[in-house]
Amino acid sequence: MIPAETISLRVQSLAREIESEIAGCQNLLVVAILRGAFVFAADMVRALDLKVEVDFMELSSYGDSTQSRRRVEIVKDLHTDIAGRDVLVIEDIVDTGRTLTQVLELLGARGPARLRSVALLDKPARREMPTVADWTGFEVPDEFVVGYGIDYAQIGRNLPYIGTVLFTRS
Ligand code: IMP
Ligand code: MG
Repeated sequence: MIPAETISLRVQSLAREIESEIAGCQNLLVVAILRGAFVFAADMVRALDLKVEVDFMELSSYGDSTQSRRRVEIVKDLHTDIAGRDVLVIEDIVDTGRTLTQVLELLGARGPARLRSVALLDKPARREMPTVADWTGFEVPDEFVVGYGIDYAQIGRNLPYIGTVLFTRS
């Protein structure tokens, strides 16, 4: 669906947009949402010409199926106190919007100076919450995607491109 070279070019252009918006930020804290955002975040922090700190948060939403659970739980919280900090949340894909909505609510309650978000993919067809990331890499159709950090039942995260899963009867 999205070749590696296309992703790489988009990461660079997103980095330029984020830099110009976050200009003047002294010490940006990047919060990568595990596990799906780890590849995107690794490329994004290297594309950003800013001084950054990196922390990770893990949430559960999908389990090993394609059905989204109703609630998002914190499996691993940040090490960093974000009060007064400029924070950039990095997410892999915004689907129903529940995960990003709850992450932004949760982190927003901790008093950051600025709270911004970037998602590699946006699947607007399945949206249940109005939330959109401040920056989005690509809009994708209502298909189950894998690769570039994103899994199907934990498989496919190491694919360098974004592909779709074909579900067949067996
Ligand atoms: P949301 O809470 O429904 O927006 O879902 C966001 C999370 O669901 C993402 O962080 C992904 O981990 C997962 N997800 C949503 N769509 C897909 C997909 O097509 N493939 C793999 N994971 C997905
Ligand atoms: Mg995820």
